[in-house]
Amino acid sequence: MFGRVYYLRRLHFLNCSIILGIKRKRKMRMRNKYKKPTTFPCNAGSKCSVSIILWILAGFLLLLHFFSLVSHKDGTSGEIELHISHNPSFRELVEVEEENIQIPPPRGKRSPRAAKRRPKRTTTLIDEFLDENSQLRHVFFPDMKTAIDPMKDNGNDSFYYYPGRIWLDTEGAPIQAHGGGILYDERSRTYFWYGEYKDGPTYHAHKKAAARVDIIGVGCYSSKDMWTWKNEGIVLAAEETNETHDLYKLNVLERPKVIYNDRTGKYVMWMHIDDCNYTKAAVGVAISDYPTGPFDYLYSKRPHGFDSRDMTIFKDDDGVAYLVYSSEDNSELHIGPLTSDYLDVSNVVRRILVGQHREAPALFKHLGTYYMVTSGCTGWAPNEALVHAAESIMGPWEDMGNPCIGGNKVFRLTTFFAQSTYVIPLAGLPGLYIFMADRWNPADLRESRYIWLPLIVRGPADRPLEYNFGFPLWSRVSIYWHKKWRLPSRWSG
Ligand SMILES: *[C@@H]1O[C@H](CO)[C@@H](O)[C@H](O)[C@H]1NC(C)=O
Ligand SMILES: *[C@@H]1O[C@H](CO)[C@@H](O)[C@H](O)[C@H]1NC(C)=O
Ligand SMILES: *[C@@H]1O[C@H](CO)[C@@H](O)[C@H](O)[C@H]1NC(C)=O
Repeated sequence: MFGRVYYLRRLHFLNCSIILGIKRKRKMRMRNKYKKPTTFPCNAGSKCSVSIILWILAGFLLLLHFFSLVSHKDGTSGEIELHISHNPSFRELVEVEEENIQIPPPRGKRSPRAAKRRPKRTTTLIDEFLDENSQLRHVFFPDMKTAIDPMKDNGNDSFYYYPGRIWLDTEGAPIQAHGGGILYDERSRTYFWYGEYKDGPTYHAHKKAAARVDIIGVGCYSSKDMWTWKNEGIVLAAEETNETHDLYKLNVLERPKVIYNDRTGKYVMWMHIDDCNYTKAAVGVAISDYPTGPFDYLYSKRPHGFDSRDMTIFKDDDGVAYLVYSSEDNSELHIGPLTSDYLDVSNVVRRILVGQHREAPALFKHLGTYYMVTSGCTGWAPNEALVHAAESIMGPWEDMGNPCIGGNKVFRLTTFFAQSTYVIPLAGLPGLYIFMADRWNPADLRESRYIWLPLIVRGPADRPLEYNFGFPLWSRVSIYWHKKWRLPSRWSG
C-alpha cells in the first residue's frame, strides 16, 4: 500500500516536470528558489540539514500545486482547442444547451392509482416519450411540417442537423436507414449511409413478441456533404416466399454495416440476422462489387459458436477489420478480427465488458486509442449510454462513463431518447465526430428518428484531461445536445 502511494507521488512529480515546461516563467522562478539550498554541500554520505529537507518538501508541495493548476489548463489545450478558438462554428458545438420541457398534468385517462404508483419524477418524461398519445409527442417526434428538406431553398438554415426531425431524401421521402452506419468510399469520394429500410406496418408477431416490421431490406443513401442524401434503393432485399431463407420477410435483419476490402475490392456487409423471437441470434454476411449493390447474401452463422445480437464491424487503419457483438444473452460483448477477405470471423475472440449487459456498440479510433459507445439493454426503450476506451482493440476496455452533455437530466440518462448505432470520423477535423443514434418509435418503427450530434474527444490520449492520484484518465469523450447544429463551415466532405 505504502509502496503504491510512493509510486503515485513519483508519477505526479514526473508529470509535473514535463508539464511545467509550458509554464516557463513559473519554472524559472522556482529554479531560483531552489538555487540556494542546492548550493549547500550535501554528499551522499553526509547528513543533510533539516532545512534542506524542508525546502525539498516545500518545493514538492509547490510542484503538486502547480501540477494541479497546469493539468487543468492543459486538459483544455491541444488541437481541438485550436479549432475552437479559431472557428466560431466549432465553438458553438461545445456550448451546453439546456432543455426545459414541462411535463403536462396527467390527463383523465391515467388513473389516480397509476399516478400514485409512478416512481420517481425523473421517469415521467420517459413515460411521456413511450406514450404515443402524449401531449409531448411533437417534442420527441416532430411532424412533417418541420421536416428537413435539403432540396428546398433553406437559406441560412442550410446544412443544419435537427436531431429528431423527419429528414427527407432528395426525392422528398423520409430517409429509411435505421440502425445504420456510414461508409466513406474513397474511390467515388462519396458517403454511403446503410440502414434498415422499415417503411412497413409495425405489429407484434405474438402477444409476448417485441414490436417489429417485416424485413424489406437494407436501404442505401449517398451524399457528398452528409446532409443531402440521394436514395440508392434497397441494396439487399428481403426474401418474399422462401420461408427457410435468412432474409425471409418474417425474420429479423438489424444494424447492417458495410466496409470496403482494399485487397479484394469488394464491399462487405455484416448484419444481425434473427427470427422474430430473437432465438437464432446470428450474424449475416453479404458482398458486392459496388457500394450501391446489389449485395449477394452469402450466409449466416453464430460467430465463434456464440449467440450474437446487436453488432457492429470496425475497420482499423492497418486494414484489419473486427466484429463486435453482444453475446451470452446480451450480458457481455465479444470482439475478434475478421479473416483478411472480411467474409468470416477468425478463431481469435475476446470477451469484453463481461456482465455489463451492453448493446448497440459503435466504435471509433482517435489518436491511437479505441473508443466505443454502447447502450444498456432495455428493448426499444431508451437508456443511458456509456463510453469505453482501450489502448488495444482486443482489450482491456475501461469504462469512461456517460458521454452525454446538455439537454436535461432525463435527456442525459436516455442518450437524448436514442440508442447509439455509429460514430462517423470527419477527415480534417481531428477530435470531432458525428454520433449517430436511433430514436426508436416502438408504436410505429418506420417513424423512428435519427439523432446526429457532435461527439468531441478532447486532448490527445498521451496528454489526458485529468489525473487521478497520478493515474492518467482517458481523454474525455463528450456528446453535446443541440436542437440544431452544423459542421464547421471549413469542413468540406
Ligand atoms: C441570413 O443571415 C444574414 C446574416 O446574419 C442575414 O442578414 C439574412 O437576413 C439571413 N437571411 C435569412 C433568409 O434568414
Ligand atoms: C430457400 O432458401 C434456402 C436457404 O438459403 C436455399 O437452400 C433453398 O434452395 C431456397 N429454396 C428455393 C426454392 O429457392
Ligand atoms: C416464436 O415464439 C412463439 C411463441 O412462443 C411461437 O409460437 C413461434 O412459433 C416462435 N416462432 C419462431 C420463428 O421461432
